[in-house]
Amino acid sequence: MTPQKDFFLRNIWYYGLPGSRLKRGKMLAKTLLGEPILFGRRQDGEVFALRDICPHRGIPLSCGRFDGKEVECSYHGWRFDGEGNCTEIPALVEGQTLDLKRFGVNSYLVREIQGNIWIYMSDRQTDRDLTMPEPEMDPPRVAEFGDRPYQFLETVHFPCFVDHAVVGLMDPAHSPFVHRAWWWRSEGNFQEQARLFVPSLYGFTMARHKIDIVTPMYRLLGGGRVPETEISFQLPGIRIEELRAGESIITNLTAVTPLSETETEVNFIAYWNVPWLGALVPLLRPFAKAFLHQDRRVVVQQQIGLKHNPPLMLINDADTQAKWYYQIKNEFFRAVAEGRKFENPIKERVLKWRG
Ligand code: FES
Ligand SMILES: [Fe+2]
Repeated sequence: MTPQKDFFLRNIWYYGLPGSRLKRGKMLAKTLLGEPILFGRRQDGEVFALRDICPHRGIPLSCGRFDGKEVECSYHGWRFDGEGNCTEIPALVEGQTLDLKRFGVNSYLVREIQGNIWIYMSDRQTDRDLTMPEPEMDPPRVAEFGDRPYQFLETVHFPCFVDHAVVGLMDPAHSPFVHRAWWWRSEGNFQEQARLFVPSLYGFTMARHKIDIVTPMYRLLGGGRVPETEISFQLPGIRIEELRAGESIITNLTAVTPLSETETEVNFIAYWNVPWLGALVPLLRPFAKAFLHQDRRVVVQQQIGLKHNPPLMLINDADTQAKWYYQIKNEFFRAVAEGRKFENPIKERVLKWRG
């Protein structure tokens, strides 16, 4: 089975939202993969997600109220719990018994890990199917930080289809042009690079190596030492970069999530065990923002050309990771469609580029 040109992967965990944005007793509406979703956090701290459409007359449930346990629809007051079960229909009089099970709303599997709320976007959202099997995969997790939440988060919206944001994120040849700045890359600072890549869970990993273009930012983060780095990518659009200098570890997780066909959210999340780094956050935040906005700017400009639907090119080896992304995305799609296990098509290989 061949997928269409632009498609969203299903039956996989997506980044939903940062846990800190959802307080106890509150709900928050968000569109993911074009689907309206209502996230809520019960008074006991548990997070849930429901389809944000009342099964009675279609009004968003987010227009209603939440008492920390149940959502009450704003139109006729039907009530739903976090699993999507209808618990009350106020218009019924005594003796009018309806089987409330028939009036539930679709719910989504959610997990909160290391400060992030992940949501499993299955391909079975149209039927309310409470017997849906647990997914075989777990949501992504960064190593070495246990259950600790992140220390840094920055969110940016890119006005493009998800693939362009993912490909931009893993593109090794754009840095000297897009991220040209005194604190990151100076003009003409080009180097030939050779990196070993190995297949890894639902993706591939650039094996651990010493950083060879030591920008002022890396120098600062390494505390004078040249850090080592390892970067992994996994579907649907998760990049985890670990930076180590001695005992110091700084890990960032970047999650690229499609909100719709034309809008993609990028969450840049960081964890570290370097005590002094926390004090620098107010200083570093503008740089992180500027960096992400450099990527956003090219995506905005790219959209001007993409409107004309030009054929696009991927060259070796600079764009090999982008090729791999499309290969693993298509393989995942086929594996789901054929009801079989994902077989990683990536083979161990050294990629070379100038960047
Ligand atoms: S539309 Fe929600 S209760 Fe009627
Ligand atoms: Fe970039």
